[in-house]
Amino acid sequence: MSVFFYLAAFIMVTRIAKTFKFSPLRPKWKPMFSTAQLAIALAYPFSEIAGDGISSIIAGGILLYLVYFGLREQDFKPFKPYLEAHYPLIGVAFVYGLTKLILPKFVSEYEEYSLIPIVAAFIYVLGRWAASKKQMEQINIFSQRNAELDRLVAERTAELTNQKEELQATLEQLQATQQQLIQSEKLASLGELTAGIAHEIQNPLNFVNNFSEVSMELIDEMKEELEKGDKEEATAIANDLKDNLSKIIHHGRRADGIVKGMLQHSRASSNVKEPTDINKLADEYFRLAYHGLRAKDKSFNAELETHFGDQLPTVNIVPQDVGRVLLNLFNNAFYAVHQKQKDNSEGYKPTVTVSTIAKDKQVFITVRDNGNGIPEEVKDKIMQPFFTTKPTGEGTGLGLSLSYDIIVKGHNGKIDVKSEENSYTEFTISIPG
Ligand SMILES: Nc1ncnc2c1ncn2[C@@H]1O[C@H](COP(=O)(O)OP(=O)(O)OP(=O)(O)O)[C@@H](O)[C@H]1O
Ligand SMILES: [Mg+2]
Repeated sequence: MSVFFYLAAFIMVTRIAKTFKFSPLRPKWKPMFSTAQLAIALAYPFSEIAGDGISSIIAGGILLYLVYFGLREQDFKPFKPYLEAHYPLIGVAFVYGLTKLILPKFVSEYEEYSLIPIVAAFIYVLGRWAASKKQMEQINIFSQRNAELDRLVAERTAELTNQKEELQATLEQLQATQQQLIQSEKLASLGELTAGIAHEIQNPLNFVNNFSEVSMELIDEMKEELEKGDKEEATAIANDLKDNLSKIIHHGRRADGIVKGMLQHSRASSNVKEPTDINKLADEYFRLAYHGLRAKDKSFNAELETHFGDQLPTVNIVPQDVGRVLLNLFNNAFYAVHQKQKDNSEGYKPTVTVSTIAKDKQVFITVRDNGNGIPEEVKDKIMQPFFTTKPTGEGTGLGLSLSYDIIVKGHNGKIDVKSEENSYTEFTISIPG
């Protein structure tokens, strides 16, 4: 009879081994399964020598150990119901074995009947196996799904890595483009400046031309007087001539100064800080910006007001850089008043004011215009690179972002904005003196 118990033990190990066939756990348990199968196969004939009773008890012990071992191991958790289904069979094995040892006569008398509980317990195990098989299939499906998920994750990761690399390349491209744009913004501000400078040169040049012409006429007159012998008149004319020539020299020098200034500006920013007269710098760029705009659009007019503090110390700055900042502030201000002027010309007096003051070891430069103001919702954005409300071609939106870099990062200063819609805009730059 003990053959049933050994058979159950062997089937148990074989079945579990079989379900591990495609599992990643197989390498871990395979040797164990083989050893157990061999041990059971060998234990049966040997224990049979000691008689059916002892053999049944040993088989019960083997079964009990296998169930105990399986329930303890995490890897065999899905087999729990199947393993537990062996308890009745184990019980039967012990009872049968012991009864056979103690009451061999009784057992041999009712041998046929003892088969009933054994077969019943055996069938019970088989039944539980069918049920747990379904569970195992589900587990298999899960592990297949897991593998599929792993594959998908790997695919997505590869895709994301690709995308990241593409983005990186795009970012690098954008950064290069941004550098180019900043460069061209600098050139554009130079262009505006040149227009202003041309206007400034025009003035002294007109003087030089006019006085030269007049002087030529005077020389003819002087010749005539000399021929006539009127020395006195000739001397008077010579004096006039001298006056004229000194005016020509004066205006020539002015033009010379302007050209020198232009050359200085066109040179790349030296980034060298030097003590600078802020009032002079502001005044110079104020007029340059205005005339630069006027050169482009003759219909444009504005009042220029200046309130320069008289006790201003010289400030250590990079003049070209701060000049560029001022130029942008002035251009923005003139642009704003020009827009408002175009909308309602009746009674509107476009005015741009620049004031300077020294306070608390700082120098403040304020540029105020009575244009349309900055709407509340865009106030936070105006310093962002490329933010502009101007039509394409008229503004790159880099002016204030460059200004911010120059003043805040380059000079440890600050830029503040105050504005009221339809009323005014006021930018204040403060630089430590
Ligand atoms: N004085 C001002 N009045 C009204 N809006 C202003 C004034 N100054 C700046 N802004 C607003 O801030 C935006 C950004 O100014 P920013 O100087 O940075 O660029 P931009 O003038 O548009 O172009 P760019 O200076 O590069 O030619 C402007 O487009 C405008 O909307
Ligand atoms: Mg601007």
